[in-house]
Amino acid sequence: MGKIIGLTYDLRTDYKFRENDPPDANAEFDHPQTIDLIARTIESLGHKCLRIGNVDDLLKKLDNLKVDIVFNISEGSSGRNRESQVPIVLEMMHIPFVGSDGLTLGLSLDKAMTKKILISENIPTPKFFETDDPTDNIAKLRAMKFPLIVKPRCEGSSKGLSEKSRVENIEQLREQIGYIVRTYKQSALVEEFISGSEYTVALIGNNPPEILPPVQIKIDGRLKLGDKFYTFARIHSDRLEYVCADKIDKPLKEKLMNLALRTYKAIDCRDFGRVDFRVDQDNNPYVLEINPLPSLSSADVFTCIANYLNVRYEEMIRRILDAALTRCGLN
Ligand SMILES: Nc1ncnc2c1ncn2[C@@H]1O[C@H](COP(=O)(O)OP(=O)(O)OP(=O)(O)O)[C@@H](O)[C@H]1O
Ligand SMILES: [Mg+2]
Repeated sequence: MGKIIGLTYDLRTDYKFRENDPPDANAEFDHPQTIDLIARTIESLGHKCLRIGNVDDLLKKLDNLKVDIVFNISEGSSGRNRESQVPIVLEMMHIPFVGSDGLTLGLSLDKAMTKKILISENIPTPKFFETDDPTDNIAKLRAMKFPLIVKPRCEGSSKGLSEKSRVENIEQLREQIGYIVRTYKQSALVEEFISGSEYTVALIGNNPPEILPPVQIKIDGRLKLGDKFYTFARIHSDRLEYVCADKIDKPLKEKLMNLALRTYKAIDCRDFGRVDFRVDQDNNPYVLEINPLPSLSSADVFTCIANYLNVRYEEMIRRILDAALTRCGLN
């Protein structure tokens, strides 16, 4: 039977830039077209879609909210726990929702915390340290080899990443740590740079989740990326493409799918998620991060997978929603 499905989201167009915000401050938020697409898809599956909006809208509407479940893709307002805000409010009100809970979302937004869990589960991830002091690294660095990459610790959508993020010496490293700390008001995550190729693996469902065919990242027409990586500028250009499964050799494909599943389970991901990898020249995969709130935009990975599987985008949303309805005993 059709359900009433609330939709929580943050619109890129609603973001109010504050003084000293970096130009990519609203990068994680969704375009209105993506929200329209998800809402239309929910309706085409026979449900009623109620657009709620962001966490502030949710709080205002809470007293009169009549929904069976909420489809949450909200990124939240600010801070390390921003993605947990909507799930925690919904949990307090006993309203079921699609996707991971506040703990998993908070944990995965913090890449350093995620990596500590990966290490404890023996899941390979690049060597790293986190710091907010550009001068204190030399001792830690002894165990790590240049080139390194410097990222903000708690951001997504390649925020803070430019050609300068890959550093080859101490001077560049210090400069880049200083830039991240000043601009993004958080510590920097410094990792060994994995030269090679890049993949992402999406999963849908629970007990067990379905591991979807891996997607390879092509930059400037090349699958062998070497030192190329995904910068904020590249995301917004046609120099980045997703290529589904075909050219990946079978043993590597199996390794990626197996590691994606272990990562999904390690952080208790629910209903859907996406695990990002770099693979070195000797075919060793490393997990970079897991996204329990991956983009559902029509230009993103889920559409690439749908095309490869010869199904419509709607089918992807149906599977995610179904997984949540079953988990919540609403099916
Ligand atoms: N250790 C690394 N070695 C090589 N490239 C890396 C490394 N870490 C990050 N990158 C590059 O930077 C990109 C973004 O990094 P990461 O996935 O950790 O952050 P993100 O901003 O959360 O990603 P997303 O855009 O998927 O939300 C990767 O897709 C990859 O191209
Ligand atoms: Mg990523």
